[in-house]
Amino acid sequence: MRLSLWALGAAASVFAALSSGLAQSDNPVDEYRRMLADPFANPGFLFVDEGERLWTERRGPKNASLEQCDLGLGPGVLDGAYAQLPRYFPDVDRVMDAESRIVHCMVTLQGFDEAEIRRRAFSTRDRRSDLEALVAFVAEKSSGHKLSLPLTHPKEKEAYALGEAVFYRRGSYFDFSCSTCHSQEGMRIRLQELANLRKNEDAIRAVTTWPTYRVSHETLRTMQHRMWDCFWQMRMPDLVHGSEVSIALITWLTKNAEGGELTVPAIKR
Ligand code: HEC
Repeated sequence: MRLSLWALGAAASVFAALSSGLAQSDNPVDEYRRMLADPFANPGFLFVDEGERLWTERRGPKNASLEQCDLGLGPGVLDGAYAQLPRYFPDVDRVMDAESRIVHCMVTLQGFDEAEIRRRAFSTRDRRSDLEALVAFVAEKSSGHKLSLPLTHPKEKEAYALGEAVFYRRGSYFDFSCSTCHSQEGMRIRLQELANLRKNEDAIRAVTTWPTYRVSHETLRTMQHRMWDCFWQMRMPDLVHGSEVSIALITWLTKNAEGGELTVPAIKR
């Protein structure tokens, strides 16, 4: 249903763009952004549908679905769960973000191999990632919910403090920190505007729009991928998927975006 709606919407958008003539706007970049903002033209929803299939189908060595996965609000509770992650999970005695928790459920409920899931966490041009689709499905169930991290457990507070420290820590041969690019107003690299991630307003705009369909990647990307990508931009060693540092950064960013309403999957360049 969603697929056909999407196809219809995409066709309508293309038709509208053609009939109005792209040249109508003085600024083709604004025109491009306007077209991207059309939710009917967002292929991210195809990943949500695929994620739903992967969530409910019996799969893996244990031939089980993920329907009993506990994302922090109890087994099987999806609504609003993504908006309250990362959080502390007593069963593993650590803080997990949505992606790590889904991986945990794929391992414990379905019997999949953790190293193998992580190796395939990010899709490539010729290989889809189950995890990206699952994150899209889980996150979309929190669309419309406001970000609200518990941040009461000592390990949650520890993750927040570590995330903040990493944000300001300079390294590698450019000697960049996250803060070098993300602490000022009105900065940009080429055409890309850089968010001031210390500010609630900017952090909200950034965090409430992940996962997102990235047009330039031709796939849906998750917050873990965004962290990995910015580490790469800093020429730091590869950020390990689901590592303590990645979760700490996501905890810090999400807390800074407290109160922001999730609108996912979004669509971005
Ligand atoms: C060399 C500059 C640079 C550094 C250093 C950098 N980033 Fe980024 N970051 C970017 C660019 C460029 C984008 C993409 C902006 C766009 O596409 O609109 C981005 C995007 C992001 C986004 C998504 C913003 C959005 O609105 O979707 C987040 C979150 C983010 N960075 C976090 C970080 C973190 C955390 C670090 C440190 C680990 C970091 N960045 C380091 C340049 C940088």
